[in-house]
Amino acid sequence: MISLDLVRATNTRLVKAHPLVAVFVGAASGIGEFSVRALAAAHGTHGKGLRLYLVARNEAAAKKILVECLEVCPSGQFIFVKADDLSLLKNVDDVSAKIISLEEQEAKAKGETARIDFLVMCQGIVNFGYGRQETTEGLDITTSLLYYSRMRLILQLLPLLLTSSLPARVVSVFGPGTEKKGRENKIWPDDLSLRDPSHYGFINMGDQIAYMKTFFFEYVAKKYPGKISLIHYFPGLVITDAFHNKKNPRWFRWSVTLLRPVLGFVTVAREETGERVLFLASERFPARALKDESKLEEKGNHIGIAMSSDDVVGGGAYRVIWTGERIPTVPAYEKHRKDGLPEICVNHTLKAFEEIEAGRVFKD
Ligand SMILES: NC(=O)c1ccc[n+]([C@@H]2O[C@H](COP(=O)([O-])OP(=O)(O)OC[C@H]3O[C@@H](n4cnc5c(N)ncnc54)[C@H](OP(=O)(O)O)[C@@H]3O)[C@@H](O)[C@H]2O)c1
Repeated sequence: MISLDLVRATNTRLVKAHPLVAVFVGAASGIGEFSVRALAAAHGTHGKGLRLYLVARNEAAAKKILVECLEVCPSGQFIFVKADDLSLLKNVDDVSAKIISLEEQEAKAKGETARIDFLVMCQGIVNFGYGRQETTEGLDITTSLLYYSRMRLILQLLPLLLTSSLPARVVSVFGPGTEKKGRENKIWPDDLSLRDPSHYGFINMGDQIAYMKTFFFEYVAKKYPGKISLIHYFPGLVITDAFHNKKNPRWFRWSVTLLRPVLGFVTVAREETGERVLFLASERFPARALKDESKLEEKGNHIGIAMSSDDVVGGGAYRVIWTGERIPTVPAYEKHRKDGLPEICVNHTLKAFEEIEAGRVFKD
């Protein structure tokens, strides 16, 4: 486990070494909010410069957070970007265009290069068995928020991510590691959208998203070596508004309320959660090395360099648990890779984007 002291020291070093442009999506509550607050606090008055975009639907909540951030980080620039329902890719495209346009204006005014150094995506809902609900674009709402909308956002923001000199870190907060031993076959290459009701479910959806995100992140990391690092992050159990959502079954909400006194022992605290998300921007998670660079050594610095999902030290696509350590892939990945699943998943995703962009309803 990476100790919290080391996390804090690393975060302080980061903000003192680099001026940062950061984008947080789905950050008017929960883990996104904690991460925004952690970056503002770490930057404080001694950071090298911070421009932070908070993307959310809830304007009042977002603006309150940003006002409070400015109090702890008066030298920072905090910008709210209004989003609509991000389960629709059309809205993802619109908000991406807004972010690019705002960042180009802000950077130009300061004589800087427009860029994004740190992108953190937290948009999501907990779907406890209320089944597949389709968007007008043909995607399942829950899967779209947790997977398609996020992959689309990365591709749409690539022009700015690729100009980061950090290089850019992209974090998707959800849950790698559900595709455990014994669940190897819970992926259906000819039904990646889980349209068959017997395939759809809370656990299966988690597996499917974990597989697809692992393969999509590896695809992007390899396509842009030296430029972008992508991290699928499991934050541990963090008590947020998501647990009290009225859509969750009553038994679940009651359990959270009843167990509250003991939950403190098994949950990750809010402040620590934000600090650990910020740590993902550290040099422990570099972009994949360029071919002509010498192979990175695992103990290259005191926080080490992480092993990527495709078993390359510093390979650019990571699966990480809240302790800062790797969530390894299960042996089934080897077979799935041989069977061409990575290409099937990436092609499925790109086809969904192509169809929806062309105004058609995605049917695969
Ligand atoms: N908390 C945990 O223990 C835990 C554990 C594992 C994984 N995660 C993952 O971490 C992420 C954040 O969860 P959280 O616990 O911080 O929950 P949260 O506080 O409910 O945050 C989720 C965010 O997503 C936004 N959102 C929901 N539906 C949206 C939509 N249709 N369009 C745009 N934005 C939407 C919400 O914004 P609005 O306020 O506008 O609805 C909210 O700010 C989720 O993906 C969750 O699966 C959490």
